[in-house]
Amino acid sequence: MRIVLLGAPGSGKGTQTDAIIARYGVTTVATGDLLRAEVAAGTELGLRAKPHMDAGNLVPFDIVLGMIEHGLQTLAKTNPKGFMMDGFPRDLAQAEALDEILDRISQPLDLVLFFEVDYEEIVKRLLGRGRADDNEATIRNRLRVFEEKTAPLIEYYTRKGLLRNIKGTGTVEEIGQRVQAVLDEIA
Ligand code: AP5
Repeated sequence: MRIVLLGAPGSGKGTQTDAIIARYGVTTVATGDLLRAEVAAGTELGLRAKPHMDAGNLVPFDIVLGMIEHGLQTLAKTNPKGFMMDGFPRDLAQAEALDEILDRISQPLDLVLFFEVDYEEIVKRLLGRGRADDNEATIRNRLRVFEEKTAPLIEYYTRKGLLRNIKGTGTVEEIGQRVQAVLDEIA
């Protein structure tokens, strides 16, 4: 199973990953987590990424692509059950780069799950979480960036016949059941 979790920041992608991993045995690749680990370790990559993350902007393409490419090639060899991308791709350039990498290793995507949640609910959720980039100004900018750069991927993946909408409100368990209903079709 090879899937992408698509949705605005705070739409609940990360929250659903444990249940998906437990049920389907896939490995997750979450660019936000990978980047935060680089920042915490004080690597050069982390130092370059941090100001962009603090402002709620996308980290430059070359940084993210390097992390993803290596991760995916290793994964394709080590986990036959597949992978789930969380937080990548985030714009058209990243989506095209992902297609190119997956073509090269003959592992095309099966599905893209799009989590639909309205922005006011998202702001409430993220202000309640309190991660370093969860202040109101940064949250609003992350949502603007989503709207401008990431939302066009809805159309991109719809045209490829890969997009499935998931209503992202309700309890975590209810959303998990909606996700499961879709993923069981391809498991
Ligand atoms: P990233 O780590 O991807 O963060 P994000 O996009 O802001 O998304 P979140 O992790 O906040 O949202 P989520 O949908 O996973 O929601 P979650 O489950 O956590 O990226 C951070 C930064 O890194 C970016 O701004 C960018 O700078 C950089 N970056 C990352 N990837 C990049 C890329 N590919 N290219 C360039 N830059 C990149 O839930 C959110 C909250 O809601 C939690 O508190 C949760 O408990 C709560 N919640 C979840 N579900 C529910 C529910 N059903 N009801 C009530 N509350 C809920």
